[in-house]
Amino acid sequence: MTIEKETEFQTTTPTRAFINEYNRLKPLYFGAMKTACTRFEVLDAEFASLQGHDPIHHIENRLKSVESAFEKLGRRGYAQTKENLTKLTDLAGVRVVCSYIEDIYKIANVFLNQPDVRLLYEKDYLKNPKANGYRSLHLIVEVPVCLSTLQTTAPVEIQLRTISMNMWASLEHEVSYKVNADLKEKYRAELKDCADVLFGLEEKMQKICNGIREEAQS
Ligand code: GTP
Ligand code: MG
Repeated sequence: MTIEKETEFQTTTPTRAFINEYNRLKPLYFGAMKTACTRFEVLDAEFASLQGHDPIHHIENRLKSVESAFEKLGRRGYAQTKENLTKLTDLAGVRVVCSYIEDIYKIANVFLNQPDVRLLYEKDYLKNPKANGYRSLHLIVEVPVCLSTLQTTAPVEIQLRTISMNMWASLEHEVSYKVNADLKEKYRAELKDCADVLFGLEEKMQKICNGIREEAQS
């Protein structure tokens, strides 16, 4: 068996063929990521000028690295072949961080109403938070991409969350990856408490915010 050969078995590093295919697909997923970001930026600017309030605090984006894509195929039980790269729907990722929970649904709904945006999958961890306290709205969508000789669509994973959910998720991620097993249990319980407190705070602040906006309109 040469190192170039794709096999059904899990290897530790991506083969040359896998890397070449990833590099071939990269512009497509880069385009999808940029399309999604621009759509959200435009909507944010529109809300700001029409309603005097921009729902989006900031936007982050990333392309999954070739190593990470290879590792995830293995973790998901797929053969780590170049053909399976397109099984991953989060090669392109966009994170839309909003100020308030209602902003998340407002901006997500108008985005999903765009005629060339196709919703493939939705996970609403706002309505149904994970047991550890994680909250966010996840949308897997297909958006248009125009390359030099190809007009097509590609999937993007969009995570919408508030500033405080973002802060919580970053800390939880650190605990998951950087903390020893003994402390993990303790921090997990504390993080769940933090998630509950943040949820209560966000509800209160949303009410204040709605009150101010109603008064400004009357
Ligand atoms: P992954 O294999 O991690 O991509 O998860 P998935 O394909 O089952 O999808 P899911 O929608 O549950 O999660 C996608 C992404 O959301 C993850 O890669 C993380 O960025 C984020 N996420 C989901 N759950 C958690 C969580 O419990 N904590 C944190 N910090 N992030 C999470
Ligand atoms: Mg992922």
